[in-house]
Amino acid sequence: MTPAAEISAAGASHTASPRPWDLDAIRRDFPILDQRVNGVPLAYLDNAATAQKPAAVIDAIGRFYRHDNANVHRAVHALAERATTAYEAARERVRGWINARSASEVIFLRGTTEAINLLAHSLGEGWSAADRVVLTQMEHHANIVPWQLLRERTGIEIAVLPVTEAGELDIQALPELLDRPTRLLALTHVSNVLGTINPIADIVRIAHAHDVPVLVDGAQALAHQRVDVQALDCDFYCLSGHKMFGPTGIGALYGKAEQLAALPPWQGGGEMIRRVTFERVRYAQPPQRFEAGTQDFAGAIGLAAAIDYLDTLDRDALAHHEQDLLTYATERLDAIPGLRLIGRAAHKAPLLSFLVEGVHAHDMGTLLDRKGVAVRTGHHCAMPLMDFYGVPATTRASLAFYNTRDEIDRLADAIDYARGVLA
Ligand code: ALA
Repeated sequence: MTPAAEISAAGASHTASPRPWDLDAIRRDFPILDQRVNGVPLAYLDNAATAQKPAAVIDAIGRFYRHDNANVHRAVHALAERATTAYEAARERVRGWINARSASEVIFLRGTTEAINLLAHSLGEGWSAADRVVLTQMEHHANIVPWQLLRERTGIEIAVLPVTEAGELDIQALPELLDRPTRLLALTHVSNVLGTINPIADIVRIAHAHDVPVLVDGAQALAHQRVDVQALDCDFYCLSGHKMFGPTGIGALYGKAEQLAALPPWQGGGEMIRRVTFERVRYAQPPQRFEAGTQDFAGAIGLAAAIDYLDTLDRDALAHHEQDLLTYATERLDAIPGLRLIGRAAHKAPLLSFLVEGVHAHDMGTLLDRKGVAVRTGHHCAMPLMDFYGVPATTRASLAFYNTRDEIDRLADAIDYARGVLA
């Protein structure tokens, strides 16, 4: 079997029974985790920024470049056939992973940011000051700025669904907000600052009752949970490969077939057309209509390998382990004097944003790094949410299934150390 055929064969079938949950073995799948930084073992708690890659993903990309690399959908030679087969198998793999009805509902793009920019461009064509988009207070800039760019071009109105102090969406306020004609509700599935898991199916039901389509930013969701776009009934869903243990530079936009069929392209170039003359152009059907130019096909194959890898894991055990880490970390952090945790939603992904009295978040990040603990500090590309809480920045520990209780202990000890130095 050629390597590309192996990838497509792996992509076609789901693992029948997952392997037993063995955290040491799982950690060994991620070569980068086994290293020392600043003289101590690495505790990587910055998974919401980007997740680490299992050897299976790194190897799949290497194998592709060593054996099968050729441009896709363009030539008939053997390598081109293998590359095209593997690329389309990767699309099918993403389809199955999110349970889309058809692979043609899956567009490969660079990631969530690019997907939202595409929609702001193509959905927004022809919109004017009479049109309106509803966002939420907890959006990442990737789901704010593209709509502001559209507002600059067309004058659309942007309305915002508030959050509560605990960091949950104020769903009660949604029906009234959608009572006025609205083109789109665009919101995140999981907040990258608060960890809040939003009740997307309920929100979609409310929005659809008002005839408002829904776009979901899934960047932070797929590392933690399975997503079924048919069950959610959302109109669009976007994801980033690098946050779900796949490569950087590849992600996908799911759109219901009828929504995509009505969308004009957003970039012109090779392979997104049916016929071009100097007088006119006819566009290809989705997904090709939205994939102008040479795509990151090696990235797509790496993303399929990440899904294959995730499929070997026991999802119930994974969810149980992550919730255990979240509960344990919340207890440990709550016991630290002067620490304020931001984001106490009832349903949370394993992510903790906090401030410590007397210590600036950036200094905290530097001191944690001295102890080998990698976290993100800053506004997390969510300045309107920072404004809501009245803080300039937080320190954020974001966990993945390969993290351990021991790493949480090291985080708590390192925060104590930072307080000792600075507070
Ligand atoms: N959006 C990513 C984060 O929250 C980069 O860190």
